[in-house]
Amino acid sequence: MTQANAQPTRDILVTSALPYANGPIHLGHLLEYIQTDIWVRFQKMRGHNCHYVCADDAHGTAIMLRAEREGITPEALIERINREHQADFSDFHIRFDNYHSTHSEENRELSEYIYRQLKANGHIAVRSITQAYDPEKNMFLADRFIKGTCPKCKAEDQYGDNCEVCGATYTPAELINPRSAVSGATPVNRESEHYFFKLPEFVDFLATWTRSGTLQPQVANKLAEWLDAGLQEWDISRDAPYFGFEIPDAPGKYFYVWLDAPIGYLASFKHLCNRRDDLDFQHYWRPDSTAEVYHFIGKDIINFHALFWPSMLHSAGFRTPSAVWAHGFVTVNGKKMSKSRGTFIMARTYLDHLDPEYLRYYFAAKLTSNVDDMDLNLEDFTARVNSDLVGKVVNIASRTAGFVNKKFDGQLGEVTETEKLAIFIKAGEEIADHYEAREFGKAMRRIMELADIANQYVNDEQPWVVAKQAGEEARVQAICTNALNMFRLLMTYLAPVLPKTAAASQAFLATQFDWHNRSNLLENHRINAFTPLMQRVDMALVEKMLDASKEELPAATTSNPTEVNVEPIADEIDFTDFAKVDLRVARIAKAERVEGADKLLRLTLDIGNGERNVFAGIKSAYEPEQLEGRLTVMVANLKPRKMKFGLSEGMVLAAGPGGKDIFILSPDSGATPGMRVM
Ligand code: MSP
Ligand code: ZN
Repeated sequence: MTQANAQPTRDILVTSALPYANGPIHLGHLLEYIQTDIWVRFQKMRGHNCHYVCADDAHGTAIMLRAEREGITPEALIERINREHQADFSDFHIRFDNYHSTHSEENRELSEYIYRQLKANGHIAVRSITQAYDPEKNMFLADRFIKGTCPKCKAEDQYGDNCEVCGATYTPAELINPRSAVSGATPVNRESEHYFFKLPEFVDFLATWTRSGTLQPQVANKLAEWLDAGLQEWDISRDAPYFGFEIPDAPGKYFYVWLDAPIGYLASFKHLCNRRDDLDFQHYWRPDSTAEVYHFIGKDIINFHALFWPSMLHSAGFRTPSAVWAHGFVTVNGKKMSKSRGTFIMARTYLDHLDPEYLRYYFAAKLTSNVDDMDLNLEDFTARVNSDLVGKVVNIASRTAGFVNKKFDGQLGEVTETEKLAIFIKAGEEIADHYEAREFGKAMRRIMELADIANQYVNDEQPWVVAKQAGEEARVQAICTNALNMFRLLMTYLAPVLPKTAAASQAFLATQFDWHNRSNLLENHRINAFTPLMQRVDMALVEKMLDASKEELPAATTSNPTEVNVEPIADEIDFTDFAKVDLRVARIAKAERVEGADKLLRLTLDIGNGERNVFAGIKSAYEPEQLEGRLTVMVANLKPRKMKFGLSEGMVLAAGPGGKDIFILSPDSGATPGMRVM
C-alpha cells in the first residue's frame, strides 16, 4: 500500500494562552491546553516540525497584592505557582516544548525592543488621565479594585462598574460610598501621565488582516462590528507600585500586563531557540516567514489577540500569526463553574480522583472548530468514556489478546481481512483532515464508527467458539490478528488524545504508531502480554471529586485579575428551607493542624451538649493557637461527611476573599455555647 497523505514537512509554532500566575489551573483552563496539545501531538505524529510553547503570565496588580497578602515577594509567589502549573499540565499529559514565564530576561528584552519600535514609528502617545487613587495604599485603583453601594438597587459591596445583584452597569464614580477594595480608604481623583498605543492607526491593516482567513468566521464578523464602531487608543502603562517591567525612559511607569503577556509567546520561543541548535527564532518571526504560527485562546481574550497583538507585531517588524483560534467556555452540568456547587474543579482535585485521559477524550469528543461553550456533563462524561473507550476500543484488544498470548505464545498470524483493514487505513485520511481542522468531535465519531465495525467483526467470528473446535487454530489466530490490527489503527488515530494508553498499546503490540506507517500491518509478529489498558470511570469517584472541590471553598481562587471573585447569588430558597439550618454558637475547644492538609484545620467545637469534630478551610488565615477559646457560629445539623482526614460533623461560618482574609464569624461575648443563632 502507498503512503497516505504525503505532505512536505511544515514548520509550525503553536501557543496556548499564558495562564495567570496567581491561581491554580482548573478544568476550564484545561479545555484550552488539552485542545492545543492534541493538535500539536497530531502534527508531530505526522512528522511536522511543530513546537508548542507557553508560559505563566506573571505580572499585574492582582499578583502583587496576593504576594503581599501571603507575606512573600511576587518573585517567590510566581515561582511557586509556576511549579504547580507545570506539574498540573504534565500530569494531564500536556507536553510543552517550553514553559517559561513573562517575568524573564527574554521577555524584558523583547518587550523593550517592541516598545522602542512602536515609539520610533510614532505609534505611542503620552497624555495625562484622571483616575481613582487610594490615598492610604498610595496606588491607583483599577475599576475592579473599587467597591461601594450599587446606585440602582442599593446592594452593598459591589465592585467596579457593574452590580452582581441587579446587573446594572455604571462608572465607579457613580457608586454610592465608594471605597478602595485594597485598603478600605475613600478613593480620590488624581492625574498621571499614561502611555497609549495608537490602535486607530491600524484600522485599515486590521480590516484586511481579520478578513484574511486568520480568524474563525464568527470571530471575524464580531471584529468587523468593532472595527466599524471605531477603535480607541490602548492604555499600555501603569503607575508604580506595579509588578512588571518598567517602561524604558519612563521612571515609575510600568508596562500594563497585557502589553508584555503576548510578547511572552516570543520570549518563551526565544528561550527554547537559545537551547536548540536546530531552531532559528528569525525563521519563525521575520515578516516574510514561511513558517506557521498559531495561537489557541479562549473567547474572552480575542480583542488582545486579534486587534492589539497583530498591530503591535506589524508595527514592530515581525510577522503576524497565521491564525488565532478561539474556543468557548467550559460549563459544568449546564451551569457556570461554581465553588458552592463543587463544580469549580481544580486540575489537582481532578487528578486526585480520576484518570486525565478520560477528560482528554471527553473534551476531544465534544470539541469543534468554533467558539461555542462546552458543557462538561458529569453523567454524560462517565457514560461516554465507559462506552466508547472501555466498551468499544479497549474491548477489541481484551477480547482477542488472550488467545494470542495463551494459544500462540504471543505470535500473530496472517491478516485475512485485507478489505476491512483497507477501510480502516483509508479512514486515516479523513480523520487527519478532521484533526487538522480542529474538528476533534468528528474525528472521534469516525474512530468510534470503526470501533463498531471491529467489534461487530469479533462478534460475527466468535473466536471463543472457534477456539473450541479441533483443527481451527489457524482461523482463531487469523481472527485475532485481524482484530488486533484494527485495534492498532484505532489506537494510532487516538494517540494524540490518549498518549498514555497509546504508549501502553505500543508496548503491548511491540510496535510504534505513526500516521505514515499505519498501512504496514502486523503479521507473523510477536506481541507482548496484555495488561488492562483502561479502567471504567467510577461515578462514585466523580462524586468524591465534587465533594473535595466543595471542601476547597474558602480559598479565593480567582485566576483572572480582570474579574473579581464575586459569586452570583444562588437559587432562591423559601423560609422552610432556611429554617432547617440549625445555627449554634460554638466554643473552639481545640484547634489543630492536620497532617497532609494544605488548607484545613481540625476544630473541636463545644456546643453545650457535646463536642463536634469539624474540618475548616481556614488554615491560611489563622494559627490554631489564636483560635482556642474563641466563640464562633456553626451549622450544627449538617449531615456528617467523611473527608480524607476523618469525619466532619458540621461547618463553621466564615467570610472573606480568602488567603489571610478569612474571618470566622464570632457572636458577641455575651453568647454561650449551644445558643441558637437566629
Ligand atoms: N493571562 C491571560 C492570557 C494571556 S495570553 C498572552 C489569561 N489568563 S487566564 O488564566 O485567565 O486564562 C488562560 C486561558 O484559559 C484563556 O485562554 C482563557 O480563555 C481560558 N479559560 C479560563 N477559564 C475558562 C473556562 N471556564 N473555559 C474555557 N476556557 C477558559 O486570560
Ligand atoms: Zn444593583
